[in-house]
Amino acid sequence: MADSSSDETCPEREWETPPDSFVEQANVAAADRDAFEERGWPGCWSVAADLLDWDRPFDAVLDDEGATRWFPGGRLNASYNCVDRHVEAGRGDETAITWEGKLGETRAYSYRELAGEVNAFAAALRELGVGEGDVVTLYLPMIPELPVAMLACARIGAPHSVVFAGFSADALATRLSGADSEYLVTCDGYYRRGTAIDLKRRADNACVSADHDVEQVVVNRLEDDRPVGDHHAYADLVAEHEGATVDPVSRGADDLLFYIYTSGTTGEPTLVRHTTGGYLTHVAWTSHAVLDLGPDDTHWCSADVGWITGHSYAVYGPLALGATTVLYEGTPDHPETDRLWEIIERNGVDVFYTAPTSIRAFMKWGEEHPEGHDLSSLRLLGSVGEPIDETAWHWYRDHVGDGDCPVVDTWWQTETGGIVLSTLPGVDRMRPGAVGKSLPGVETAVVDELGERVAAGEAGQLVVTRPWPGMARSLCEGAGWGARRTRTADGEWHYETGDNAVRDDDGYLHLLGRADDVVKVSDRRLSTTEIESAIVGVEGVAEAAVVVGADETAVQTSEIHAFVSPESNVAGDQTLRERVRDAVQEAIGPIAVPDVVTFAPSLPKTRSGKVVRRYLAAIASGEDLGDTSALRNPDVVGELESLVDR
Ligand code: WT7
Repeated sequence: MADSSSDETCPEREWETPPDSFVEQANVAAADRDAFEERGWPGCWSVAADLLDWDRPFDAVLDDEGATRWFPGGRLNASYNCVDRHVEAGRGDETAITWEGKLGETRAYSYRELAGEVNAFAAALRELGVGEGDVVTLYLPMIPELPVAMLACARIGAPHSVVFAGFSADALATRLSGADSEYLVTCDGYYRRGTAIDLKRRADNACVSADHDVEQVVVNRLEDDRPVGDHHAYADLVAEHEGATVDPVSRGADDLLFYIYTSGTTGEPTLVRHTTGGYLTHVAWTSHAVLDLGPDDTHWCSADVGWITGHSYAVYGPLALGATTVLYEGTPDHPETDRLWEIIERNGVDVFYTAPTSIRAFMKWGEEHPEGHDLSSLRLLGSVGEPIDETAWHWYRDHVGDGDCPVVDTWWQTETGGIVLSTLPGVDRMRPGAVGKSLPGVETAVVDELGERVAAGEAGQLVVTRPWPGMARSLCEGAGWGARRTRTADGEWHYETGDNAVRDDDGYLHLLGRADDVVKVSDRRLSTTEIESAIVGVEGVAEAAVVVGADETAVQTSEIHAFVSPESNVAGDQTLRERVRDAVQEAIGPIAVPDVVTFAPSLPKTRSGKVVRRYLAAIASGEDLGDTSALRNPDVVGELESLVDR
């Protein structure tokens, strides 16, 4: 499908065009894109909002007096939009969620069944005392009760705060306290590679250290003995309220739908809040326009629902459009490395959305795995989370997409709520290695340190220059919760994304990685500062610096390297190494545990005493260090190179 016409602006990169068969059926064709854009910003976003059912129409698309408010005056309920309206439209028997369990079990919920369980659990939450505005924390693995609980919360206007089940008790406690959340829905445990993980014990420990009382509801996932202790059993609550109907609470467009924590530049987790009207509009529209989803589609977003990707494109986006969403509890290589392809084949998945870190693993395992399955149901492939290099792009398209599925690379963040940069698969050409352009209705720029736009071909920071509906609440309000919002000299509004990028002559953006200490490891966003603060809490540790190095196996994108400088009388030995790892595991969870711990007599520093992570990252990746003469202690760098123990 390569376009053979040579391209003047970027001769080394080829264009790819979507096949006619895709273009003909696409939700958004060139004429639709033009009609959207002709309305101008912000009015164009009313086209997106029309994908939803509003209890009360909004008075304006955007009110930007002082604070940014999308769809002021509008009222709606997210649970109604994701569930009831599809049943009312006569689609109650269609599948809403199809779940693939870790032990090979499957469970499907029709929209009618989903409505039944959401109503029953919403009634139960109310009876427990959950009112509008109360925050409910959901600490659950990838089981259907997680989206059910999210939708039940949305139904009664209680913002949910989903905490990734791989986080530690300490991390959960911080999040319970930070969100002032007095209700927790968790489960007894879950399976990871065949072993049962005791989630309930972690939840109990977190509740003990939270700064207020927490009422627990527990799903019985392991199906063995019921966990003991003071809590309500999810199954009992749902059974008691079977057949209940709970009227969806009409929420203001600007009222909060959920909280989600992410890793910011500081050592503290950052709380991000998303609104009901703006967020739901944004994810429904991008699911329609970029992922090309509709009611007849089966969509599989492989991200964990604990992260924003799962919220937006495994739950809210596809369900708002009445599609079927696939939820998979397991790992891609268990029991066999063809597990994903088997699931796609059996479920007739139309659109598959995953991360480059996974695609690189698939490449390593070999093309025979996808090729051993009939993947002809696939119509579109998506990529998210990090840059997808050209090799991975082509492999994905050729071996998963059978050579003719368009691939959409999608750039966005927890803070943006939904996709901001991509290509429209029914309209735009694709350029492997470049993410694409700003979506219609979104405006971005690449700027220098002063906020001035740089020329095409020059690197700078990616900023969004106009508000968009999915923007986190904090971005609407100026300062707060780690959001970065500035006004340049000419008074222009900028949201600084923290990512560096370069725009080519065609307006396609190439992402160059983060400008701060936020890193992506196996698709998880982590703050190196957060890991460092856990390490320096270990007795005997004087200083620590954490960097991410390239992983030689290339299965993961990267691995976490900790350079740790012990106190003068303390030995950097295996015991200390274990204590460092345990401390990170306890504070954050296994996802953040350093792969490599190197003990260093000291860390490379500038004359003003700042640790220069650039050199450490080069050492960790085995790269050339370049000129180290600006360091106060250049000798330590050579010494560190010899100390790294892989
Ligand atoms: C960071 C946001 C992506 C939404 C879910 C994760 C990086 C994301 C891409 C892409 C290059 C990407 C950025 C961004 N990122 N997508 N297509 N190409 N980089 O959201 O955990 O908040 O992470 O992921 O660095 O800032 P998140």
